[in-house]
Order: sequence, then structure tokens, then C-alpha cells
Amino acid sequence: MKMQTVLITGASSGIGAATARWLARQGMRVVLTARRQDRLEALAREIRAQGGSALTIPADLADPSARRRLVHQIEETWGPVEVLVNNAGFGYYATLEETPWEVVERMFAVNILAMIHLVQLVVPGMRRLGRGHIINIASVAGYISTPPLTVYSATKFAVVGLSEGLRRELKPHGIHVTVISPGPVRTEFGRVASGLAVDPGEVPGGLHPEAVARAIARALRRPVREIVIPARYRPAIWINRALPRLVDWGAARQGQAWLRHIEEARRRHKREAKETALNDPNRLIP
Ligand SMILES: NC(=O)c1ccc[n+]([C@@H]2O[C@H](COP(=O)([O-])OP(=O)(O)OC[C@H]3O[C@@H](n4cnc5c(N)ncnc54)[C@H](OP(=O)(O)O)[C@@H]3O)[C@@H](O)[C@H]2O)c1
Repeated sequence: MKMQTVLITGASSGIGAATARWLARQGMRVVLTARRQDRLEALAREIRAQGGSALTIPADLADPSARRRLVHQIEETWGPVEVLVNNAGFGYYATLEETPWEVVERMFAVNILAMIHLVQLVVPGMRRLGRGHIINIASVAGYISTPPLTVYSATKFAVVGLSEGLRRELKPHGIHVTVISPGPVRTEFGRVASGLAVDPGEVPGGLHPEAVARAIARALRRPVREIVIPARYRPAIWINRALPRLVDWGAARQGQAWLRHIEEARRRHKREAKETALNDPNRLIP
């Protein structure tokens, strides 16, 4: 893996940050991108302090011109991207009816359109080199659609479908494609998806993001089509296909319970924010 240039999207937290640390330790040159520049720079400093190479390029991946600038800047600095880890993404806990349209558009822009566009932008460089590897982060939600993440699941189903076709397109050019589908991972995902910067509580049994980073490193060493992590979700994916009626019943109940839990967390957060404001001695008295 020595000195390969790897672009990791969504590197400011969670799975992306863990992957950047892991691959930099293996000797890869990592390009870190996301919107939060301070986080990217802190991570790059940490990687460099340990002898690694890191480049930070902040970008809002919902913006097509930012994606073009990103790949152009990498090619100018370090040459073609040899490994692309398409990881940036987010969800939103709400029924489809209650998901604001702007959120739907943004979720598709970040979770799937940016992924397609980045592939288009890096593949010419990989073809010139005659090698490359694209890792797309999907989710178990890309096989089992579970409310209240219906819209998010639709984006991840698209990631799984994209990866399958892409793998077949790019194989003759020596470019590998791997889709990685994690179950729940302990990251900032829940806080972002709850929409109020409150953490609605960890999903029991959530993975450490480093476990996903290790799976990515394994796939780079020994290319595979698909990884579902943890593997115990494989039977669940099969059951969803074989016995959809049973899963419909369970998933609907679970979805409603989770939404009630989120609503309670949102109310609690509002109450606490109000109390903090009332107890603040510096508050302005109207
Ligand atoms: N956590 C889970 O349970 C889980 C399970 C399966 C799959 N996944 C997938 O894993 C991937 C990583 O998520 P995570 O769990 O690590 O969550 P996370 O900690 O919230 O990380 C999400 C990353 O995406 C970046 N991002 C979001 N919107 C962006 C935008 N418009 N432009 C550029 N970057 C953007 C965020 O950076 P900025 O906010 O700084 O831009 C952040 O670095 C996602 O694709 C997610 O769907 C997560």
C-alpha cells in the first residue's frame, strides 16, 4: 500500500477519520475532505506527527464545482487518485412525509450523486495508471429499508446498485470496486440524523469506526466485491428477501418506536436548552 494516494470523503469524523488514521499508518498518502476544515486540519496534524502524509481540502460535496476543484487540486499536488473511499453521507430520522424536500435533495446529492461524480472524475487518472480501487460505503440499510430512514435507505440501495454495475464496467481496466455495508457504527451519524445536534442514544451493539477502517484496509490488500460488517447482518438481509411480510411487521413497529424515542430526545433537548438559558446570569432581561 506504500505511497498510494487515497482520497477519503467524510474524513472529519466517524468512519472517514478512522479510515484516514488507519491507512496513513499503513504508509498511504491520505487526502482528507469534508466541510469542517478545523477537524480536517487537526487530523492531518495528528497524521503528520506520526510520520504520515496528509493533505486537507475542505469541500461541500453537494456542490458539483467543489468536487471538480477537489480532484483537480489533488492531481496538481500528488498526481492521480489511486484509491477513492466514497464515505461522506448522512441520514435524517423522519417519515418520508415529514422529511423536508431540501433534506431529500441534499441527501441524494451527498450520498449518491457526489459518489457518481467523484468516480467520473478519478477514473481517467486510474485508467492512465492501469490500476485503482474504489470503495463505496453503503449500509445494511442499502439492503433492508428500515423506517424512519426510508429516504436514506433509498440512497444506500442506489450505492449498492451503482457499485455492482461499476465493478463490472471497471474490471477490464484493472480497477477494483468494493461496496462496504456496515450495520450500526458509533459515530456522529445519530446526532446528525436527529436533526437537532442531540445524540438520541447509541444503537445497542454498534461497531467502533475502526472496525470498518480495518475492513477497508483488508479489501485494499485483497480485493473483494462486497463486505457486510458485522457478518451477522447477512442472514437478516436474506430473511428480508425471503420473508418480506415478517420483516414488514417487525420493521414498522421498530420504526415507530425509534421515532417516539427521537421525539422524546428532541423534547428533552429543547427543555434543557431553555433551562440553561434561564439559569444564565448574563442573559438579557427583556
Ligand atoms: N454510523 C452508522 O451507523 C453507519 C452505518 C452504515 C453506514 N454508514 C455510512 O458511513 C458513512 C460515514 O458516516 P459516519 O457514520 O462516519 O457518520 P459521521 O460521523 O456523521 O460522518 C459523516 C461524514 O460525512 C461528511 N459530510 C456530510 N455531509 C457532507 C457534505 N455536504 N460535504 C462533505 N462532507 C460531508 C461529514 O463531514 P462534515 O460535516 O465536516 O462535512 C462527516 O465527515 C456515511 O456514508 C454513512 O451513511 C454509517
